[in-house]
Amino acid sequence: MSDIARILISEEEIERATERIAAEIDRDYKDADGRIVLVCVLKGSIVFMGDLMKKVTVPVEIECVRVSSYGSGTTSGGNIDLILDVDRPDIRDCHLIVVEDIIDSGNTLTFLVKHLLNKGAKSVRTVTLLDKPSRRKVEFKTDYVGFEIPDEFVIGYGLDYDEKYRALPYIGVLDPSVYS
Ligand code: PRP
Repeated sequence: MSDIARILISEEEIERATERIAAEIDRDYKDADGRIVLVCVLKGSIVFMGDLMKKVTVPVEIECVRVSSYGSGTTSGGNIDLILDVDRPDIRDCHLIVVEDIIDSGNTLTFLVKHLLNKGAKSVRTVTLLDKPSRRKVEFKTDYVGFEIPDEFVIGYGLDYDEKYRALPYIGVLDPSVYS
């Protein structure tokens, strides 16, 4: 039996959304004064980041961050540790665009935006391929969104269950028999 109950978002739909978001970034940053840096939030965003950076035509640089969350953080920013940080001396000259695969509680992006602004970034915006607004614990609005999705267990295109399924080219719904 397949572990995938159904395909929620196809490869083609992801590609069209990525093109749309890239065009929005091009429009918003074409006259940017400074460096434009896409910040990949490891590991889930790695596939979306790779596709998005190829479609954006304004010149971008890249960085990666990694966080680990623990507990059921209900306060702003949740309980989050930074494992890998953006470490560049010219951060005051950088417009950062944090690239996420999914926003759920909102804790990760709340934490990252605050952290990167505190480090002195010229600006920080956020992009997420998937948004689960029904799961939000802290109010957070991303600047660029691919798809709003219902509260289902999604995997593929970077997203995992127990580190599996990240390499699937589409977003699928995991069959509950896999995790129950
Ligand atoms: C996921 C996702 C986001 C975060 C979103 O990462 O990639 O970074 O959770 O959730 P939030 O809005 O509730 O903070 P995960 O911790 O699963 O790690 P991974 O990307 O390495 O799989």
